[in-house]
Amino acid sequence: YPKAFLFDLDGVITDTAEFHYLAWKQLAKELGVTFDREFNEQLKGISRMDSLEKILALNPSLKDLPVEEKERLATKKNDHYKDLIQKLTPQDILPGIKDLLKDLQNQQIKIALGSASKNAPMVLERLELTHYFDYLVDAAKVSKGKPHPETFTTAADYFNIDYKDCVGVEDAESGVQALNDAGMFSVGVGNELTEADYLVEKTADLKLENILEQYSKWSS
Ligand code: G6P
Ligand code: MG
Repeated sequence: YPKAFLFDLDGVITDTAEFHYLAWKQLAKELGVTFDREFNEQLKGISRMDSLEKILALNPSLKDLPVEEKERLATKKNDHYKDLIQKLTPQDILPGIKDLLKDLQNQQIKIALGSASKNAPMVLERLELTHYFDYLVDAAKVSKGKPHPETFTTAADYFNIDYKDCVGVEDAESGVQALNDAGMFSVGVGNELTEADYLVEKTADLKLENILEQYSKWSS
């Protein structure tokens, strides 16, 4: 059995990946930049400032904005985002997630969050899920964001657990890469994540039994 499950937040536990997309799109519109969902895939799992840099790079005339202006734009995006998450309730937990958390708790497998979002503790509170988590890693606890493994290794190190005894659940390419580079078992949600050790189409397919079966093949 694995000893810990490490969960990404946005797009795995709840559909806030969509809110990040909408908030960036609104800011981009104000900047006269357009981008689509395909481009947005690159922003998943990436910190607020790094995401802003990628968006600014779409328009050469926005390349050399002063730091204060970048800070202002990042804050503006976050204000849009915070408006959107005000509406979150436990109803917005994605299908299958709560059952998985309960099953893990029953099996006494540790549960941690591994998110790049500074809003992560707040989102968990609104979903009333905080009590399931033995440890939270958010942007405040790491210096190198995904795809660097630090977000996930920080949680494993806190539990004092070997990386190969950890399972991570991710909806972003950057996150799957972080898990793989840490030597953890990566579960991808969404069809595009071909690098994942185990891929499911949607969160409702995240069944503990199936994950454990795949994990035991991988680890033997
Ligand atoms: C997660 C999301 C990203 C987001 C990042 C920072 O990784 O997948 O889309 O940019 O968190 O979120 P924050 O709430 O701190 O702006
Ligand atoms: Mg995500």
